[in-house]
Amino acid sequence: MSGRLASEYPSWKKLQQIHESEHSKLLLKDLFAQDPSRFSKFSKEYVSPDDSSVTFLLDYSKNLITEPILNTLLSLVKEADVETYRDKMFAGEHINTSEDRAVLHVALRNFDEFKIAEAGVSEVSDVLAHMKEFSNAVRSGTHKGYTGKPINTIVNIGIGGSDLGPVMITEALKAYSKRDLTAHFVSNIDGTHMAETLRVCDPETTLFIVASKTFTTQETITNAETARDWFLAAAKDKAHVAKHFVALSTNTKAVTEFGIAKENMFAFWDWVGGRYSLWSAIGLSICLVIGYDNFEQLLKGAHGMDKHFKTTPLESNLPVLLAVIGIWYNDFYGAQTHCLLPYDQYLHKFADYFQQGDMESNGKTVTKGGHRVNYQTGPIIWGAAGTNGQHSFYQLIHQGTKLIPCDFLAPATTLNPIHNSKHHRILLSNYFAQPEALAFGKTEEQVKQELGANASEALIKSKVFEGNKPSNSIMFPKLTPATLGALIALYEHKIFVQGVVWGINSFDQMGVELGKVLAKNILAQLGTPQDVKGHDSSTTGLIHYYQKHRQE
Ligand code: F6P
Repeated sequence: MSGRLASEYPSWKKLQQIHESEHSKLLLKDLFAQDPSRFSKFSKEYVSPDDSSVTFLLDYSKNLITEPILNTLLSLVKEADVETYRDKMFAGEHINTSEDRAVLHVALRNFDEFKIAEAGVSEVSDVLAHMKEFSNAVRSGTHKGYTGKPINTIVNIGIGGSDLGPVMITEALKAYSKRDLTAHFVSNIDGTHMAETLRVCDPETTLFIVASKTFTTQETITNAETARDWFLAAAKDKAHVAKHFVALSTNTKAVTEFGIAKENMFAFWDWVGGRYSLWSAIGLSICLVIGYDNFEQLLKGAHGMDKHFKTTPLESNLPVLLAVIGIWYNDFYGAQTHCLLPYDQYLHKFADYFQQGDMESNGKTVTKGGHRVNYQTGPIIWGAAGTNGQHSFYQLIHQGTKLIPCDFLAPATTLNPIHNSKHHRILLSNYFAQPEALAFGKTEEQVKQELGANASEALIKSKVFEGNKPSNSIMFPKLTPATLGALIALYEHKIFVQGVVWGINSFDQMGVELGKVLAKNILAQLGTPQDVKGHDSSTTGLIHYYQKHRQE
């Protein structure tokens, strides 16, 4: 975030040399054989400074690193001044320079510990109190719909950060949810998303939560208008909107213009980035689903990780370790992607969530100083819940031509111990087996022994696993709200560290703007072929095809 090119740091150059001279010799098989203490050297147990039950193990021993490599990566972090920028973030300095904004999602889960002087920070506890009061009223049935019935369905209307966080968390913490309250999340402008949702909603018992930081996002406002029309078709009287629509936003003016009263608005501030907003009023749907106390636990879990990130020396700082290991593959091994593989069905949206969290943050080509980078920045984030991925894309990770660093995550104890936890033991056996198979593979010798003397050369070769594929493993006792909070904050800070090292601004998202502007222009030209002007022949041809074939 200093805006300097990462490639100018002495440690960057050193890492290049190390990679050139040593990468062919870095074999996980040998590294483990040579050092019986490798696991204890390259694994750390996190215990929240606030709550010892919030803990997890990070095992990073199955990475293509040695102590000198790790030390050089940590020197890179020092040279990039990550600690200074971290402290600036926590102090509320405007490190989002292009938008001249502070970056203070940490203030949303601070509980008065870090002193942050920024407008709005002192209002955080009031908004939390409002969220508590409202969610309790809805969950207890005190808040009633326009015909006097309690609310049994909520529909969160939002997109990007105003959708993905609430979706991911309400799925992840379903075990803690109020089962008689159904939650839907409508994000896509495709009318199908709203139409299929409204089909199963009853206007008398449905609460719409319009979640939009700016309250100008085309998808969200259009979807909210459709929902309001649908509601009014049944309720008739505009006065009833107050009982069925609330807004989560920074834009009071646009919210009141939409017809939602100020008292039904839950505020947040421009220093909360969209993709870091689940901790803010955007978390209202989370409160409604899991209850305010569990939401607070989520915040507290994240706060513990904030303290760890802020105070722990670099060599034991878990977000820093994840960040530098990621940089090692991304910038020196040429890895294009990073795979998130939670062995927990509840975390099935974890990778989707961090697709925005990471790719919208670090998908940049220009440093804060305006220089084009001459190295790779943010990786492509993808993944799926285990074991499903094993039966689709793991083949490529094991035997394909690409290097895909993976993070495996799992709880030691399942929240659903059905069949005497047999399912969980099988799940975990896979969680343990996959990183092992990736790291150590299977040699030609082993395959030959298994297949016997008559096996063809081609068959033998096809069954060889080269191994040496790196991964991190994260294991936690149980998926609780606080543990989830800590894990999310772990990845948030990892993304931060990488952004600072790469010299980019992780907190704007200019790259999403152009498409929006062009879409607006095209929307006005969709009437007749004569209206279509100023495009390349491909775009013109596509629009003409649509105009010829549409039936409205
Ligand atoms: O996609 C761009 C973006 O601005 C995201 O950063 C944000 O999370 C999303 O749109 C939604 O924005 P809003 O909450 O303002 O509707």
